[in-house]
Amino acid sequence: MSNYHIKHLEEYYQVYRKSVRDPENFWEEVAEEHFLWRKKWDKVLSWDFTKPEVKWYEGAQLNITENCIDRHLTTRGEKTAIIFEPNNPDEEAEHITYRQLHERVCEFANVLKDQGVKKGDRVCIYLPMIPELAISLLACARIGAIHSVVFAGFSSTALSTRINDSDCKMVITSDGSYRGGKEIDLKGIVDEALHDCPGVKTVLVAKRINSDIAMKEGRDKWLQPLLDEAYRDCVPEIMDAEDPLFILYTSGSTGKPKGMLHTTAGYMVYTAYTFKNVFQYREKDVYWCTADIGWITGHSYIVYGPLANGATTVLFEGVPSYPDFGRFWEIIEKHKVNQFYTAPTAIRALAKESLDFVEKHDLSSIKVLGTVGEPINEEAWHWYNVNVGKKKSPIVDTWWQTETGGIMISPIPYATPTIPTYATLPLPGVQPALMDENGNEIKGNQVDGRLCIKFPWPAMARTIWGNHQRYKDTYFSAYENKYFTGDGALRDEVGYYRITGRVDDVIIVSGHNLGTAPIEDAINEHPAVAESAIVGFPHDIKGSALYGYVILKVTGESRDQNNLRKEINQIITEQIGPIAKLDKIQFTSGLPKTRSGKIMRRILRKIACNEMENLGDTSTLLNPEVVQEIIENKL
Ligand code: PRX
Repeated sequence: MSNYHIKHLEEYYQVYRKSVRDPENFWEEVAEEHFLWRKKWDKVLSWDFTKPEVKWYEGAQLNITENCIDRHLTTRGEKTAIIFEPNNPDEEAEHITYRQLHERVCEFANVLKDQGVKKGDRVCIYLPMIPELAISLLACARIGAIHSVVFAGFSSTALSTRINDSDCKMVITSDGSYRGGKEIDLKGIVDEALHDCPGVKTVLVAKRINSDIAMKEGRDKWLQPLLDEAYRDCVPEIMDAEDPLFILYTSGSTGKPKGMLHTTAGYMVYTAYTFKNVFQYREKDVYWCTADIGWITGHSYIVYGPLANGATTVLFEGVPSYPDFGRFWEIIEKHKVNQFYTAPTAIRALAKESLDFVEKHDLSSIKVLGTVGEPINEEAWHWYNVNVGKKKSPIVDTWWQTETGGIMISPIPYATPTIPTYATLPLPGVQPALMDENGNEIKGNQVDGRLCIKFPWPAMARTIWGNHQRYKDTYFSAYENKYFTGDGALRDEVGYYRITGRVDDVIIVSGHNLGTAPIEDAINEHPAVAESAIVGFPHDIKGSALYGYVILKVTGESRDQNNLRKEINQIITEQIGPIAKLDKIQFTSGLPKTRSGKIMRRILRKIACNEMENLGDTSTLLNPEVVQEIIENKL
């Protein structure tokens, strides 16, 4: 029996039991069999959730790019590593072999070195979905620099906050990007961000849209001429197992974004292991994850997990609606995609369009379908199953987080029977616990509670960059000796998990994690706004959308409310990005507050969701009368 590739349910249970009985032995066996180590570990695991401190494979040395690229060269040198599918279907797709990838990563790594980047330095990557994005991550990893990718849909303010938080000395970007029919001036956004980032000394600019952009003397450099000059081999930096690999920001319910820090060996082993099992990847398969590399899904399951397995991974620059709503299905047919991994929000959007878009394409190559990022509703699940999977391809509903680094709860296709809306069973090595309000673990089945993980797994984030205390407070303080996910879940009669959603003030819109605090801060910057509160409400396509309650200063009262709404959304777009725009903005004279002055979001959420009948007792509020006003003026 191999621990590495599970093929049926009985095998899953055997492997799972083994992984729980002796996790260290289990993860040692996985690491022994499948990776290239410059030096083996002295100790598989040491951990203490009270500090919290977790170390996997201590004493080991490696370079993750040797595992993702070099070691495939003898057997898979001519195999395609990355298929780049451009935004415009008339532009030819690019097939990058492992040998070419090696060369391009080495050249890029040498450019970074020539520009003074050293092991441990932070490099911010703000690029569209073009090959340079994947290559720049790997180039950083090659020389031991810590990459911090910022999703290229974020605004200049969001970008500068992230650059400064982790003190990046370099930004890698492009002259612009294509998104459907639009061209976006990425370099302009970077220029604006860098007004506030004195620490950035160099900007490398990839050419994508050939636009005429300003280059700042001494700071901005075109990437291609530097690559042309660079040496084609780059000796990998030998890293310790716990050396940082990357920082990736995620929203919290309060405060500024959290820079989750992931380290090298555990992340590599776990993403490789989960990729292989969750997608049942076989040597000749073509795998496609539609996420952007700017999110954790792209890091783990476009770049590191697939490449560590020598897989062929598709990198798509465009959007599902361009040039029409058949684009995903056209790409599946064109590249004969075997595993397809996307978000429920994309499925819901495409399910609204004519079935012709799907039916005119041959999707017979598909073996496994996946979803990630938010709960998938039953209707979307069935549509996906019937129209894309033709009822023959299992759907893996994968639950995980930026913080977990890799998939935690998911069916194993062709092994775990699936049920719509259930993420089903924990992967080997993952030990979930459901907790009650008093902090006790709820044992047994047919129960629900707050989802925690009670034992370390190799890919867990080790800290929040620059703020370990916040890491401890956010994830390890709610329940003793457990990692708290922030999600609620139920466990059914056979032990299957269903994620019921966030239990904090994080709202998931179109699969994107949005904290209420930064959005409220942005709204409050409008000169006419006195105070605001944001809640989520159900939305057909996005899953959840944002509902804002806004108190105006007296000066705002005479203003045109629709204009104010536009202005508020404009500020949000500038401060965070268009993904955080509000669908509804209700102006109100007050917000329901407790006697200690805390906004009662629970009440606001119920009103936004039209659940007026169970608002609970409002009489103890500081200002109960405002609730009636809010109900009467509900949008
Ligand atoms: O609430 C859960 C939801 O997304 C959150 C994590 O968001 P993020 O860190 O952006 O990572 C998303 C991609 C891994 C979780 O706390 N979530 C993620 N996957 C699922 C999900 N909710 C329900 N079902 C899922 N499959």
